Amino acid sequence: MKTTFAAHTARVHAIFSSIAHQYDRLNTVLSWGTDRLWRQQALHQCRLKPGDSALDLCCGTGMMIPPLCRGVGEQSTVVGLDFNAEMLAVAQRRLSAQAKLKFRLVEGNVLDLPFAPESFSCITIAFGLRNIPDIPEALAQMFRVLKPGGRLVCLELSNPELPVFKDIYGLYFNHLLPVVGYLGTRNHQAYTYLRDSVKRFLSKKDLLRAFRAAGFQHSFYQSLTGGIAALHVGLKP
Ligand SMILES: C[S@@+](CC[C@H](N)C(=O)[O-])C[C@H]1O[C@@H](n2cnc3c(N)ncnc32)[C@H](O)[C@@H]1O
Repeated sequence: MKTTFAAHTARVHAIFSSIAHQYDRLNTVLSWGTDRLWRQQALHQCRLKPGDSALDLCCGTGMMIPPLCRGVGEQSTVVGLDFNAEMLAVAQRRLSAQAKLKFRLVEGNVLDLPFAPESFSCITIAFGLRNIPDIPEALAQMFRVLKPGGRLVCLELSNPELPVFKDIYGLYFNHLLPVVGYLGTRNHQAYTYLRDSVKRFLSKKDLLRAFRAAGFQHSFYQSLTGGIAALHVGLKP
């Protein structure tokens, strides 16, 4: 199992290293800009107050960090964690150019979070969880570092369930998206990986079950844009 995880990790690393510089632009193009709306909804679910401590996991190029900083106010520092140095370098450059952001970037693995228990009042993870090979362990790590009463908000791509929409979206996602992704990055593997990782990922209901099994209470999910993405929210009692 460890060897399989290591091979998976190496592959995910290689993919994000190779697309780090095009990631933001392609993200917007491939989601037709809807990722911005989804991110706003995720932030709304965080229910942040000034002084809260927020951690953004799989932070990538740091797209979630500015709104999190606004939510926690100027007295708190938002922490972003990712295991890919190239993605973090893009985040560092982009975020440093924005005035008044208090943030800290940490290179680390979600499966072994380098934080003390009960460190954060809110954790976000956007388009990250499906890349992680051990979801129960990832959720256990998040549960450990959340304070009692803290919230986990997970935004992730998903498979739509509505009959006709599912088929139309399937044509786009399975056939057109890897081509557009390739034209934008010249990296075929990256966007076939995106397609395959979404197909393989837990259904919305199964992810909700995983939240509950990890100990999160009042967990629920919200389908976004016909189910092509979903927000899962859980509270640490
Ligand atoms: C699709 S990007 C999402 C980036 C960002 N959250 C966003 O909303 O645009 C996924 C990120 O997860 C990171 N990642 C994948 N597995 C990870 C792990 N086990 N620990 C830490 N980061 C991981 C990758 O390096 C990549 O930057």
